[in-house]
Amino acid sequence: MEEQHPTMLELLLEAHIGLERQGPGSPETVRKALSFLDAPERFGRIADLGCGTGGQTLLLAEDLPGSIVGLDLFPVMAEKLNQRAQSRGLGDRVRGIAGDMADLPFERQSFDLIWSEGAIDNIGFETGLRHWRDFLRPGGYVAVSCPCWLSAEQPAAAARFWAEAGSPLDTVETNLGLLRTCGYQFVAAFALPEECWTEHYFAPRERAIQAMLEKYPHSEEMRAYAAMNRDEVALYRQYGRYYGYVFFIGRAI
Ligand SMILES: C[S@@+](CC[C@H](N)C(=O)[O-])C[C@H]1O[C@@H](n2cnc3c(N)ncnc32)[C@H](O)[C@@H]1O
Repeated sequence: MEEQHPTMLELLLEAHIGLERQGPGSPETVRKALSFLDAPERFGRIADLGCGTGGQTLLLAEDLPGSIVGLDLFPVMAEKLNQRAQSRGLGDRVRGIAGDMADLPFERQSFDLIWSEGAIDNIGFETGLRHWRDFLRPGGYVAVSCPCWLSAEQPAAAARFWAEAGSPLDTVETNLGLLRTCGYQFVAAFALPEECWTEHYFAPRERAIQAMLEKYPHSEEMRAYAAMNRDEVALYRQYGRYYGYVFFIGRAI
């Protein structure tokens, strides 16, 4: 059979589509973020923006009784969430749709909770928070994780990596200020622990990439994609104490 030569985007999607998560996080940190919300058992409608294949969406659906819509830019991700929800018997309360989190296709003031893990930096923390605010009911919550500087020291190699990825890092203090100016009352913020990166994201992604290297043995793109991922892991090993994902929880004023 003729070997395929997938593009970088196709490789990125193939590496991630079978993973539980597409970025750092864990069931423990989902539950920790949930623990800061008042009366979540009364939430009727929840959105999970940039849901990927919905690892966290399904956890939310298991812990909360409301209905959840997961939205992702890539239709294959939303479709995967729908399949996973069906197979867990959650299809009546969980729906994945394709869409842009910078232009939400929902009714204003219709959500009790807007959740988003590892995705808001694609459109910018401030842009996302400002846009999403209109879709929350008064008193509704936003719970969002975003990569940030964790220290005053900001190594140039890490700054360059994140800037080139299109997500230049801000400090936690800057983002807390933005949370307030975008119309939210501060509820809580905490940094994701190391295993959210290593055990829950890098390790399964590395296994997927190894299998793809065997599947596409002659693909230059595949080799370049694997090298990029290795560089990202090496950067985290060297500089992970200076940057990380921080979960921010706020309440619409
Ligand atoms: C790092 S992944 C995180 C996925 C998932 N929330 C998790 O934590 O496992 C970021 C996700 O955001 C999605 N995304 C990026 N830009 C987006 C946009 N403008 N609108 C909707 N989804 C977007 C990507 O397709 C990807 O699935």
